Amino acid sequence: MTGAAIAPNPLAEGLYDYRVAEPAIMVIFGATGDLSGRKLLPALYNLSKQRLLPAGFAVVGAAIDDLTDDSYRRRAAEKITQFSRTQPVDQRVLQTFLDAVFYIKVDFSKLEDFKGLARKIDELDHARHVGGNRVFYCATPPPTYEIITEQLKASGLNAGDGYHRIVIEKPFGSDMKSAHELNQIVQRVFHEDSVFRIDHYLGKETVQNIMAFRFANTIFEPVWNCHFIDSVQITVAEEIGIENRGAYYDKAGTLRDIVQNHALQLLALTAMEPSVAFEANAVRDEKVKVLKAIRPLTDADVAKATVRGQYTNGWVLGEHVKGYREEPNVAQGSLTETFVALRLFVDNWRWAGVPFYIRAGKRMPKRVTEIRIQFNRPPHLTFGRDAAQELDPNAITLRIQPEEGISLKFGAKVPAAGIRLRSVAMDFLYASSFLVEAPEAYERLLLDCMIGDPTLFTRADEVETAWTIIDPIEAAWRDGRPPLQTYPSGTWGPAAGAKMLEAEGREWHRP
Ligand code: BG6
Repeated sequence: MTGAAIAPNPLAEGLYDYRVAEPAIMVIFGATGDLSGRKLLPALYNLSKQRLLPAGFAVVGAAIDDLTDDSYRRRAAEKITQFSRTQPVDQRVLQTFLDAVFYIKVDFSKLEDFKGLARKIDELDHARHVGGNRVFYCATPPPTYEIITEQLKASGLNAGDGYHRIVIEKPFGSDMKSAHELNQIVQRVFHEDSVFRIDHYLGKETVQNIMAFRFANTIFEPVWNCHFIDSVQITVAEEIGIENRGAYYDKAGTLRDIVQNHALQLLALTAMEPSVAFEANAVRDEKVKVLKAIRPLTDADVAKATVRGQYTNGWVLGEHVKGYREEPNVAQGSLTETFVALRLFVDNWRWAGVPFYIRAGKRMPKRVTEIRIQFNRPPHLTFGRDAAQELDPNAITLRIQPEEGISLKFGAKVPAAGIRLRSVAMDFLYASSFLVEAPEAYERLLLDCMIGDPTLFTRADEVETAWTIIDPIEAAWRDGRPPLQTYPSGTWGPAAGAKMLEAEGREWHRP
């Protein structure tokens, strides 16, 4: 390599020069928690670095801990330094950002504390000429969403000049009924247009690119249907275990934690019809139609077309790791799944008969999220069976992470006398085409929320419809059908996962 300067890449131009929001105050409930430290504060710092935060913008951290503005700022600085995607942290930008960070102790059960919060916000609003705009971010455990929403109403924090928006993290409910109840509570306090339900996968550049890939090109859409596609595989695999989230995870499990939201969103974006415009309700209408078209699983389907597994100890990336039941805060003899494989059908004109296989798991051999579209084999083998022995069917893989990109697999002639065919790949890699690191999902989502664009957030009916797909599976699992299997950490899940596909003449793609 020479030290020659890299020519500016025209494709990377204008990547960040998009919309700037109006001044606002963002209150983060759960300001001392994991999400705030790992994701929200670093994302806000990076927005500030890209000059995408409006003048007058301020963050008010709210949590139960006894902290001052200064001690919270010190804490925020540590987290940003540790978790910012851009490194090293720019001290000048950091200092300017921290000047706009404040803290107040709030006990969610005390109305007095919310009134104190209201006073603090009003003072800041006055001093910084914000004009009344508020974002309330619930970075707290789900059981607190209800009380926070109600206290916001009781203290009058949900109304007044400017906009008043609430951001709610997943999981939104734990089944259809609880999600519906939560929707009703939240909608009594905030208008649906002001409710921003987060599924951070929607903020990932590569997830948004599914729509760009499908609807900004003409060559893929004509073959994107049951006449050409054999099957779709969606994989969300992680090397990590449940980390320190035993208490949450043991109640949730992978079906609720990943499949109900991230995996079904990937399915909906892959299967949806083109929306008339890239506009919040138009896009979400199309996604809801797909979710509604998913055939609900009967008990017999759940027994045959779902697999649930739990990791035991094993080796991941050369490190010996403990089994799920040895993790802190996991119940003895827990039957919670850390791996799911299942098959769904989308009963509509476009997708009739095409299986959508989903697999998601913790403690898999590698971290990979991808959507693989497998096409039918050619109707006739012009070159004969022998020549095509090493030929796989055409496939498009949308690699969400890591090595973000898209690859197309097709057959080519092996250079030699005679004719032998083999599969080759044509690859697009974000990193080499755009030469910039994509922003973190939370940067995009926080900014969209301040701008008031809910396109990349889930609507009430969307969340509820997704639960109607999950509920029958949970119900059958509670009755022990199919039984929970185990798998050693560092493997691709229980053998039953592979058998489920083999029985249908297919196999999982090995990423
Ligand atoms: C979260 C889940 O929503 O997504 C976690 O609760 C999971 O269990 C995480 O680890 C995965 O997100 P990412 O962005 O690392 O793929």
